[in-house]
Amino acid sequence: MGTVAYAQDLPPDPLAPRAGLSAEMRQAYEEGRLIFNGHWRPSGTNGPDDLVGLGPLYNRLSCASCHGAGGRGKPPEGPNSPFLTALVRIGVVDKDGKVSAHPVFGTQIQDRAVPDVAPEASLSLDWEPMSGQFPDGTEYELRRPVLTIAPDPGPDARWSIRVAPQVYGVGALADAVGPQFTPGLFGWKALEPTLVTQNAAALSQDIGITSHYQPVPICPSDGCAQGKPEIDGARLMLLTLFTDHLAAPEPDPPPALGKMLFTKIGCAQCHRPDLPKQMGSGMVHAYTDLALHDMGPGLDDGLPEGGVDSAKWRTAPLWGLGRVLKKDPAFPLLHDGRARGAAEAILWHDGSAAGARKGFMALSKEDRDALIAFLTSL
Ligand code: HEC
Ligand code: HEC
Repeated sequence: MGTVAYAQDLPPDPLAPRAGLSAEMRQAYEEGRLIFNGHWRPSGTNGPDDLVGLGPLYNRLSCASCHGAGGRGKPPEGPNSPFLTALVRIGVVDKDGKVSAHPVFGTQIQDRAVPDVAPEASLSLDWEPMSGQFPDGTEYELRRPVLTIAPDPGPDARWSIRVAPQVYGVGALADAVGPQFTPGLFGWKALEPTLVTQNAAALSQDIGITSHYQPVPICPSDGCAQGKPEIDGARLMLLTLFTDHLAAPEPDPPPALGKMLFTKIGCAQCHRPDLPKQMGSGMVHAYTDLALHDMGPGLDDGLPEGGVDSAKWRTAPLWGLGRVLKKDPAFPLLHDGRARGAAEAILWHDGSAAGARKGFMALSKEDRDALIAFLTSL
């Protein structure tokens, strides 16, 4: 038995699997892909498949609605644009700094709901400009998100905007030897320990689909009944097999100057080009150490989560940046998409990454461009 050939004359498939899947695994992968792309429907509605049980509260209808073609999301452009590929986490922090779920919104705002149910809230995002200057006199402008939640979540509420990260390559992150002291591996705060718990959390929080891992439905505050899991174990496994086997992004040959500068000014200390694999030989070239770092007050959105401080974030894997930056050099980056392109993302680095930012700022314009060209090759 060999591997099956799938439509080789089509343009490259962003959701292609890693090389070397058996025909049987490839079949399971394709079934997982259908679940990833499929739209869930409210209970009691008819359709071509059995993706039933949406909501009652939810953010989007499918995994692919946020991770389109396996890629990353964007924040809304302005106050009149909806949240399409980003979401808002929320909590309350009491005077002793203890964090708990928000009494009305829980831990995530679901801004959509099935017919006859009111969405939890409406969200409106605006941007506040901030200006700065490189030592060479070149001016730059950054922007900070200003979110309005209606109804008002109250004075103790803290929230955090999150764009959907890319999912291609996530399986390889789990193969790498990561740090020992993070709660998990996945998400902007490395909270979810495995792909199956990550996917079950996404089904529950983002689409309103219960599973064995997340049996309690996300409901309006007057509650709703808990039934049997809306996704069975077999289909959750197919979805997870699919995410686990998504191929990692392939870099271009790296421009030499930018690559050298990346190491020289300290970027590679956190964005590690090679992480050893837990098993077997070879390296994972994800440009992350998978660890959490304090990124300083600018990126601190005030909401600690799962024991991780509000200023701490997982070193974002930089592989795959080329896929977005080649099409749009100002593609929104960082956990909330505030950075318009790579230079702004670096300018937000502070806290433990302040030295690297200063190193970047001290470069000549040509060297800064060479570093960005390197990031665009990944
Ligand atoms: C409403 C938008 C949205 C939907 C729908 C959604 N996701 Fe996500 N996804 C996100 C966001 C935002 C994060 C980062 C969450 C965080 O910071 O904890 C994420 C993180 C992930 C990650 C971890 C990536 C990494 O690098 O650590 C995986 C895997 C994932 N999602 C898979 C899925 C699957 C599978 C589905 C469908 C069941 C799904 N997502 C549905 C927005 C979404
Ligand atoms: C102390 C560790 C650390 C150092 C040093 C560091 N980074 Fe980062 N980097 C991070 C973390 C953590 C994030 C995620 C922050 C967030 O989303 O709020 C990040 C995010 C990024 C992003 C956005 C990626 C995305 O997916 O949105 C880029 C681009 C980036 N870093 C480039 C660099 C470059 C270039 C350097 C060197 C000038 C550098 N970083 C140095 C930790 C670091």
